Amino acid sequence: MRVTVKEVGPRDGLQNEPTFIQTEDKIAWINQLSKTGLTYIEVTSFVHPKWIPQLADAYEVASRIERVEGVTYAALVPNKKGLEGALAANMDEVAVFMSASETHNRKNINKSIEETYPVLKEVIDEAKRANKTVRGYVSTVFGCPYEGKISIERVISVSERLFELGIDELSLGDTIGVANPVQVQQTLEQLLKRFSAEKMALHFHNTRGMALANVFASLQMGITIFDSSLGGLGGCPYAPGASGNLATDDLVYMLTQMGIECGVQLEPLTEAARWIEEKIGRPLMSHHLNVVRGNR
Ligand code: HMG
Ligand code: MG
Repeated sequence: MRVTVKEVGPRDGLQNEPTFIQTEDKIAWINQLSKTGLTYIEVTSFVHPKWIPQLADAYEVASRIERVEGVTYAALVPNKKGLEGALAANMDEVAVFMSASETHNRKNINKSIEETYPVLKEVIDEAKRANKTVRGYVSTVFGCPYEGKISIERVISVSERLFELGIDELSLGDTIGVANPVQVQQTLEQLLKRFSAEKMALHFHNTRGMALANVFASLQMGITIFDSSLGGLGGCPYAPGASGNLATDDLVYMLTQMGIECGVQLEPLTEAARWIEEKIGRPLMSHHLNVVRGNR
């Protein structure tokens, strides 16, 4: 069995950080990440800089990183304007995003769910014309900070629409980290009746420390693609309660210990985590870094 780890730290990890990380530092960090064996890095997002000030330097970062062969470099885009930026920076892949929750969708991208589809259709069509692959995120799959539980019918409906619009892969977001392993398996049971496991990724936040348990539950269902953020950085500013993502270093540790190949080396990953930790100016939350620091 082989698992693909998709590093979202430079985007999801940094987007919630209040202190601006210098453009040069973001670039240097991504360059380090490119040498860890990771095959996928989401480097930034081309959203409105007023909404996410930390990533206002998206074009500079995306266009100046050193590309390593075999690594897919992706960026999040909300609309056509965002896509233009991502194409200008020659991203390999773009990721569109929306929420299974009406309220979170509005708070995050200022549109209803129905209003979002034509915007994403335009992005997906144009990205395809430019020979790019497209990833589609669905947020709040396992619970919403505004609406609470989200019905499985809603998750299925949004996912189906995104596949109909042409996404190549679906990433299911536990935006605020409320999922538990049984819920993950029940949700996947329904989705796997409709979409193949190879086209689905899980994107866990670790608010309640359940992300690794949720990964294990997903692995048992045949899922082999997981999003994570180095050191456990992360969160969505438009989803109160969203804390760090599943930490890439903890994920890689678990997979390696379980004998599951992922191709990522823990040592350079640890160095890259300690490097960005210094720039951020506070200890990152992953279990692995705590062990490395000698706190455990
Ligand atoms: P809006 O205000 O409705 O946009 O924002 P608009 O289309 O009405 O345009 C208003 C102005 O914004 C115009 O400028 C546009 O040109 C400009 P003006 O004519 O007034 O001078 N504009 C842009 N500027 C730069 N880049 C753009 C862009 N688009 C329009 N792409 C918008 C709508 C989607 C832009 C806004 O709501 C936004 O940027 N939202 C981003 C929120 C965000 O990034 N959230 C975090 C990422 S999602 C997440 O973290 C979840 C995930 O990790 C999965 C999970 O955990 O569940 C993916
Ligand atoms: Mg996220």
